[in-house]
Amino acid sequence: MKDRKDLFGVVLDLAQVIQASAIYPEHHQRVQQLLSRLHDRIGRVSSNVGTIHIGIVGNRFVVDEFPFLEMNPALEKLLKDIHEKGIEKISIKEGLTSGELKRFVYFLAKGKDGAREARFEAIDYGIIQAIKGKDETEGRESTLSRSHILHGATEVLKDLLKSLARGGSGASVSSAQEIVASIMQGIRQDAHLFHQLMQMQSHDDYTVTHSLNVSAIVVAQATALGLPENRLQEIGLAAMLHDIGKEQVPSEILQKPGKINPQEFAKMAEHPLAGAKALRKMDCGSDLPVIVAFEHHIKYDRTGYPKESAKRKLHPVSYMTQIADVYDALRTYRPYRDSLDIKTTLSIMEKGRGTEFEPKLYDNFLRTVLADQAGAGA
Ligand SMILES: [Fe+2]
Ligand SMILES: [Fe+2]
Repeated sequence: MKDRKDLFGVVLDLAQVIQASAIYPEHHQRVQQLLSRLHDRIGRVSSNVGTIHIGIVGNRFVVDEFPFLEMNPALEKLLKDIHEKGIEKISIKEGLTSGELKRFVYFLAKGKDGAREARFEAIDYGIIQAIKGKDETEGRESTLSRSHILHGATEVLKDLLKSLARGGSGASVSSAQEIVASIMQGIRQDAHLFHQLMQMQSHDDYTVTHSLNVSAIVVAQATALGLPENRLQEIGLAAMLHDIGKEQVPSEILQKPGKINPQEFAKMAEHPLAGAKALRKMDCGSDLPVIVAFEHHIKYDRTGYPKESAKRKLHPVSYMTQIADVYDALRTYRPYRDSLDIKTTLSIMEKGRGTEFEPKLYDNFLRTVLADQAGAGA
């Protein structure tokens, strides 16, 4: 009997490995794991049903004769990759080697080049239309693959935060560094990506989306300050991990609609210290993530939390993160209020210049946001 779940699993696994291949280098453990999971599944399914036929009908996959109704960002990306190559049907025969599967995955993932030449022993694919000219599709695809980086990064960061909360190893930190690197590369290549990040909102995975947004906004501020390339990576990582301690705050408090009570606030206010402690146990390449996690709720006038008696100097990246943190929190929809538009957000924040926010860094932030707005409107 045909196991529908296993058949659909082939498409789901294929979509996931393609997503991972856009974020990680080819030899990365995650790509290897996903590839071998896909290969195992194909082996199991094809020994049962023989050739696996994956078709595209409209905007849906059909696996053997079964329409597959589920869609998610990874599947949409796969569908677009396949569409752009003019492929309408893929047949995977028994005996597919893992090397050939890998070649096929990269053939699908890596754009149009080589689409005419690619030949596979155990995989046939039917092309229904001529491959479009390079220039014609280039702009569209680059935008797609970059927004795909965002979806991929969100998935990876979600896993990462979970694993760090369970006391995960330093190996996870290198995944975070890779996410920062792909975001930075994306921002450099395409100003629109930064704009998209600024617009990105999530109702369910607040901390994940928030972490990506804050990281991008802090990297943009640091870039505007003219900080060198090798520091941007470190700064982006520190900003991305600033709220890692929130994994230890009960989700009833994090997701509570309306105001939290003093006991709940006290619990919430533990997240900077909890985050700093968690990060201290890992090898982040520098102390910056520990410092930023600890300091990002201490305001310029030393209100905020954790409370400190001595007036020591705070790290500038903590101030930059604090500004981005407030900006993103105001811009994002919360269960108890709508998201605020940029103009309203900035008029609220303006009042904190020199008290809540370090004034020079606030001005730099303002220039960054306004430049983004001007660029997006152009
Ligand atoms: Fe925080
Ligand atoms: Fe935050």
